Amino acid sequence: MNLFSVLFLFSFFVLVFSNATISNTIGINYGQLGNNLPSPSKSIQLINSLKASSVKIYDANPQILSSLSGTKFQVYIMVPNEQILQISSNKGFADDWLRTNLLPFYPKTNIRYILVGNEIFSTNQNQQLIWQNVVAAMESIQRSLITHKLFHIKVSTTHAMDVLQSSFPPSNGTFRSDISVAYIEPLLGFLNKSKSSFFLDVYTYFPWSTSPNDINLDYALLNQGNITYTDPVSKLTYTNLLDQMLDSVIFAMKKLGYPDLKLTIAETGWPTAGDIDQIGANIYNAATYNRNLVQKLSAKPPVGTPARPGVVIPAFLFALFNENQKPGPTTERNWGLFYPNGTQVFKIKLDGKLSESDKKLPAPGNNNAPYKGKLWCVVAKEMEKNSPELKSALTYACGQRKGTCDAIKPGKECYKQGNLALQASYAFASYWAKFKRLGATCYFNGLGVLTAKDPSFGSCKFPSLRL
Ligand SMILES: *[C@@H]1O[C@H](CO)[C@@H](O)[C@H](O)[C@H]1NC(C)=O
Ligand SMILES: *[C@@H]1O[C@H](CO)[C@@H](O)[C@H](O)[C@H]1NC(C)=O
Ligand SMILES: *[C@@H]1O[C@H](CO)[C@@H](O)[C@H](O)[C@H]1NC(C)=O
Ligand SMILES: *[C@@H]1O[C@H](CO)[C@@H](O)[C@H](O)[C@H]1NC(C)=O
Ligand SMILES: *[C@@H]1O[C@H](CO)[C@@H](O)[C@H](O)[C@H]1NC(C)=O
Repeated sequence: MNLFSVLFLFSFFVLVFSNATISNTIGINYGQLGNNLPSPSKSIQLINSLKASSVKIYDANPQILSSLSGTKFQVYIMVPNEQILQISSNKGFADDWLRTNLLPFYPKTNIRYILVGNEIFSTNQNQQLIWQNVVAAMESIQRSLITHKLFHIKVSTTHAMDVLQSSFPPSNGTFRSDISVAYIEPLLGFLNKSKSSFFLDVYTYFPWSTSPNDINLDYALLNQGNITYTDPVSKLTYTNLLDQMLDSVIFAMKKLGYPDLKLTIAETGWPTAGDIDQIGANIYNAATYNRNLVQKLSAKPPVGTPARPGVVIPAFLFALFNENQKPGPTTERNWGLFYPNGTQVFKIKLDGKLSESDKKLPAPGNNNAPYKGKLWCVVAKEMEKNSPELKSALTYACGQRKGTCDAIKPGKECYKQGNLALQASYAFASYWAKFKRLGATCYFNGLGVLTAKDPSFGSCKFPSLRL
């Protein structure tokens, strides 16, 4: 065999293999916080129609894992945060976890990763204890995997961007000082040694929507155009906000001595609907962001980021469905690529092969700039009859500070005997106007909604806010 045929064969294998292994690295987060979602087997048909490569779930739901049996999907499962302490305490618990949640399904279900906990370094009731023990839990699961000779399944955990203390400029990326040396460094050591990956939940939507006057919308939507930013220290030039955020984590890992640790986008996306104060949440922007992301991440050869050019970044879009039981502002329940009835919110294919005719979109959203007028937080029309819930929400709103509800006391200007919905609306309005700037929302377990229509009557004036 001469040199040319060796080279030819070699490049032939590289081509075949690279197509086979990196042809599509974009998966979907299959969250289940809804009471109206399709069955696992119907959901997996939908995932198939998306051309996703992989599926990530937030537990090890046995119906889902058996529905994924015999499919081509790579499957990422999760140890819920509540089980971390127990698993860290004793290898027996890790063995039990594997026996119950993985062994019955593997290898017919192609499980590739076990994620031990979700965003544990962000908010958690018992956080210090979990922070101290998460690596032990990961090691415990890893030892169990090795006992069963399951060398191809890797172990990691997911992080939100708030593990960073600073992310700007990207070269200034640094982990928070309360977790950096104590917890993140040993965690990175574990990931590096086991050739695992750092899993990051990363949303350009959040920095943009909190600072829409400072950050260009196209820059956040990955509409690469004329906007660039050059990091004064690294001299790297950025054309979109996502690369900036990813590189800030890459620089932070580098500072702890792990410059080459793999990075996986565990969640990313854009909401398709929100309240009047949640700007930019619309179908047009969501389709634009998600499609741009798919194009960027499925490009061949891979583009990577300015700090890691040419490197493949596996990613999971958030999420499969709109989930009606997620708490928080309306955007939280509107991240899905599908409505619960199985209709796509907008057309997308995760292999990047969307036909021209499917690229049509509704008109651009009209909520890309902050709403300028006054807003009131009131009881949503369809919730006015939920008396017990309204009563407890009213008690909560009025209990936060003396005086919040003086105007609805008997005899006062906003008092209407027996009209609970009206009293609760006043309480919501007053609470929200007082506490919005401290982070309060107009949610009230789905009872509250913002309106631009003044609910005041007679001499009763409802408190309002401008954003
Ligand atoms: C691999 O992908 C490249 C670029 O898309 C294409 O030209 C080539 O034919 C593919 N090879 C195989 C074996 O599919
Ligand atoms: C870099 O991050 C630190 C905090 O870690 C911050 O105080 C500093 O202002 C940042 N530098 C720049 C140039 O923004
Ligand atoms: C990380 O892993 C690589 C490859 O196994 C190794 O060469 C390197 O020394 C490790 N880094 C640290 C800081 O342990
Ligand atoms: C950059 O801006 C110019 C002038 O506004 C425009 O003609 C050009 O198409 C833009 N380039 C890109 C890549 O958007
Ligand atoms: C599915 O639900 C969405 C949102 O509620 C609605 O717009 C759409 O028409 C529904 N599709 C079908 C086929 O019912």
